[in-house]
Amino acid sequence: MTDNRSSDLLRELEQVVEVNLNRHFATAKEWFPHEYVPWSRGRDFEGPLGGEAWSAEQSPLSDVARTSLIVNLLTEDNLPSYHHEIASMFGRDGAWGTWVHRWTAEEGRHGIAIRDYLLAARVVDPVALERARMTHMSRGFTNAYVDETALHGIAYVAFQELATRVAHRNTGRISGDPVCDQLLARVAADENLHMIFYRNLLTAAFQLAPDDAMRSVCDVVTTFQMPGHTIENFTRKSVQIAMAGIYDLRVHHDEVVLPVLRSVKALEVTNLGPAGEVARDELVGFLAELDRQAARFVERRAKIDAARSAQV
Ligand SMILES: [Fe+2]
Ligand SMILES: [Fe+2]
Repeated sequence: MTDNRSSDLLRELEQVVEVNLNRHFATAKEWFPHEYVPWSRGRDFEGPLGGEAWSAEQSPLSDVARTSLIVNLLTEDNLPSYHHEIASMFGRDGAWGTWVHRWTAEEGRHGIAIRDYLLAARVVDPVALERARMTHMSRGFTNAYVDETALHGIAYVAFQELATRVAHRNTGRISGDPVCDQLLARVAADENLHMIFYRNLLTAAFQLAPDDAMRSVCDVVTTFQMPGHTIENFTRKSVQIAMAGIYDLRVHHDEVVLPVLRSVKALEVTNLGPAGEVARDELVGFLAELDRQAARFVERRAKIDAARSAQV
């Protein structure tokens, strides 16, 4: 797809953006991060205020819950780069611009709320967290599909918002802290509305430009990476997160990739030309392999878990 075709499509989608903006404004509920933070658990830290230094035993959360919360927070922290990327892609005018700014404002709450929780509840080392934020944000985030089409960008965010929703939701569940669970459920509800917004655009794109839509979905699904993949030691952290079942290949395949594909009817659309059919075949082949890898991972994890519990 040429740049011109990309901008034609964005223009054609503008009406869909407007309809979905109105739907979003009618559905999204106002909420306040401070109401979700257990301030009564907080106290001064060491430093200029001479408070108590952080240490791990101040919070009962498990190691993997901490890791997952840090990954989720650092991912949210890169919002300036995400804003730059979507503003460059969608523009800052008209309905697209309204969405870009509103989305950014909503996303801003996520980092605020999670950081406040982590610090008040003394879940993580605040010095290490701040250093990790500096390292991560200094690298920035670049849209992997910057040389592709705007449709690739739309497809990516549809899957990414759902992936983020699931990551927050499952992190809350395994945290063992009802306050954390409640906060992350609230954040996940935002991510869900973001996903619906982008998914509806993708559905419209399948009607306007089915072959291009199928190509971009295929490219995105076959190369998908989490938005926080540039976090330092991401591979080690994501293995830990996968071993705990928070986000693994099975979750990715069953709860992220397939639901979006089903909703946009990517596997059933009947209006594809030859190029679209090639892309769909590629996608179907990839999904089968992803499913096989997910099964293998779950099997391996069960063996490791069994061996561990036999040792105890
Ligand atoms: Fe977010
Ligand atoms: Fe989001």
